[in-house]
Amino acid sequence: MSGTILSARDLSTFYGKSHILHGVSLDVRPGEIVTLLGRNGAGKTTTLRTLMGLTPARAGTIEILGAQTAAWPPFRIAALGVGYVPEGRRIFANLTVDENLKVPRDRAGPWTIPRVYELFPRLAERRQNKGRQLSGGEQEMLAIARALLLNPQLLLLDEPSQGLAPLIVQEVFRVIVAMRAEGMSVLLVEQNVRAAVDIADRAYVLDDGRVVYEGPANEFAQDEERVRALAGASAESWEEP
Ligand SMILES: Nc1ncnc2c1ncn2[C@@H]1O[C@H](COP(=O)(O)OP(=O)(O)OP(=O)(O)O)[C@@H](O)[C@H]1O
Ligand SMILES: [Mg+2]
Repeated sequence: MSGTILSARDLSTFYGKSHILHGVSLDVRPGEIVTLLGRNGAGKTTTLRTLMGLTPARAGTIEILGAQTAAWPPFRIAALGVGYVPEGRRIFANLTVDENLKVPRDRAGPWTIPRVYELFPRLAERRQNKGRQLSGGEQEMLAIARALLLNPQLLLLDEPSQGLAPLIVQEVFRVIVAMRAEGMSVLLVEQNVRAAVDIADRAYVLDDGRVVYEGPANEFAQDEERVRALAGASAESWEEP
């Protein structure tokens, strides 16, 4: 269907006998940053894994860029133009920054290694350093940079701000906004509720494998009570001291 990058309907996902997602539906439209929020264990990562084909849904439909992908293996979904940066930054510790960036096969598009270095000057400075010598923030930047080189139309990000200092979080979020400016669509899983709703166009909140809120991100951001109640204790960490 034109006008939609991703459209998931009634996804049910299990790990063995554990029923985790109970009918999750969500959409990402062209050029949108959509944030997926929720407490620990709400099912955010499982949703991304389901969309990526890593933990396929047992029921429901997924349409990505016009294709019905619910039964597709991950490599086919990636080849369609979907990038995925999982939780915990899986970069190659023994390769340098530069070598890490040469791992993905080029896909034609706006993002090249020089442009990625422009976007992340820190990575350019550390290009000869091994992955294991990087700080957490630099590792996250490298993981995102590597995904960008595949020039995805849709990027799935799982908690890119996890464990990062506030200034580095700002840096990473600035890049996510820059990606939207290039026409990329982003599905952003976050525990940093305030930071995420600040840059997102729309927000979904998951609780216990169900969507309990869906709406414009700015509307969500203004509802202090809802931010606290639905997003959980992690919202507290964004209080100004
Ligand atoms: N491999 C697995 N096997 C069995 N249960 C799992 C597995 N991975 C996750 N779960 C369970 O599925 C539920 C949803 O987990 P998920 O990782 O999707 O949550 P999340 O919203 O990403 O949480 P977090 O904010 O902690 O990353 C949790 O109850 C979790 O314990
Ligand atoms: Mg998770």
